[in-house]
Amino acid sequence: MPASYKEIAEDQPIPAQLAEKVIEGEVFVIRSCLQRLGVFDHIAETSLDAIRQVAGAEAAENIERGGFDAIHRFVSLDQIEAATDLIHKRATDMAPEWVAQIAPGLLGVTGPYFFERGPNVRFHVPYDVMASDAAVMKRFAAKSGGGKLAPHPNHRDSWVGCPDNLINVWAAVGPIPEGNGLTIFPDAFKRDVARVGASIAFDENPGEPLNFNLAPGDAIVFHGEHVHSSVLNRTGGTRHAISFRIVTEKPNFPNTHYHHYLHSSLAGGPLDALAGVPANMAWSYVETRLGGAARKLGLKKEEAQRQNASHASADKKPLGGTRSFSLSSLPENSLHAITDDVCVARIGKDKIVALDRRCPHGGGDLALGVVIDGEVTCPWHNLRFDPKTGASACQTLKKVRLYDTKVEGDEVTVQLG
Ligand code: FES
Ligand SMILES: [Fe+2]
Repeated sequence: MPASYKEIAEDQPIPAQLAEKVIEGEVFVIRSCLQRLGVFDHIAETSLDAIRQVAGAEAAENIERGGFDAIHRFVSLDQIEAATDLIHKRATDMAPEWVAQIAPGLLGVTGPYFFERGPNVRFHVPYDVMASDAAVMKRFAAKSGGGKLAPHPNHRDSWVGCPDNLINVWAAVGPIPEGNGLTIFPDAFKRDVARVGASIAFDENPGEPLNFNLAPGDAIVFHGEHVHSSVLNRTGGTRHAISFRIVTEKPNFPNTHYHHYLHSSLAGGPLDALAGVPANMAWSYVETRLGGAARKLGLKKEEAQRQNASHASADKKPLGGTRSFSLSSLPENSLHAITDDVCVARIGKDKIVALDRRCPHGGGDLALGVVIDGEVTCPWHNLRFDPKTGASACQTLKKVRLYDTKVEGDEVTVQLG
């Protein structure tokens, strides 16, 4: 069954006790969410003001007219990086006030709660623009981690130092079409999912993806244990999003405990300096700090490499010769691996395509992807490949290699040479 989410239109009320539904795994899109909560203008102005400070009044005026998605036309990549830092700093100061609207007004929380100290501020410029400066792209990914300025691979938030009981409120500040947004894989919720480090294992199938088209102020509300990732930005616009993480009970950190969570009754008041203490009174916090100290002293080895054996096969040349299979064994609009390096897609009823399994962006296994609108879609950052040419909308990426196929009756033969 295709994955789905509940969309709450602008004129529909926000469902009561939304937090409980989200904790159960439901995914919601709330239209005009930030406007309804009365925080949109302040959030957008915070971003605009930081851009004005970093890039000047003219750039800010152009963005005010053209939208945040046009930022890369008026502001250099270095300045976008600096603006992201400044917005993050100011959003961190404002978080107690903004979250005080979001937790009761959106999630229906009536008692105290915890929230992550710094909201995540995201600017993803079009991939081809980013690729024009490899050094900046590398620095963005290294400095900000995945998800802020560079795409995040499929993960659960508890794999990246967050609690496993958090609710994400992931909101669009500018327009965010599905070619530049967030992907959630609801089929993997509460399922055992193999991972390597902070990313899903290359041979793990995350299931059917959910993608979204968001207008400024719309928000996706979802449990942090859903497997989710960034879409590689294949559009001509920049994504500007902000996300808040809120926990309605004590945050539980099953892995590392890096992020600071503030208690709502202390944050923003005279005891603000102590607001992080309740969440940090946990063995997970002590263990993480001791681990960090040990790493600094060189006593502990880094986690295993992300690339597992499956990914390591990416550079192997496919064998020559042919492979055959029966057409009826491959359901319509599905993919299947036929060798370590090659997979086949059945597109609609009759079209068969054989292609390299490894995505030219980051090595995602296309055999575990899906067919969307007649195109092969990578399970990692949702990039789509034209089955006629092997090309994607990201011009700076290589095409995926295609192989000749022949269909005779129910038999399909793929020429691997
Ligand atoms: S789109 Fe990133 S690995 Fe395929
Ligand atoms: Fe995440």
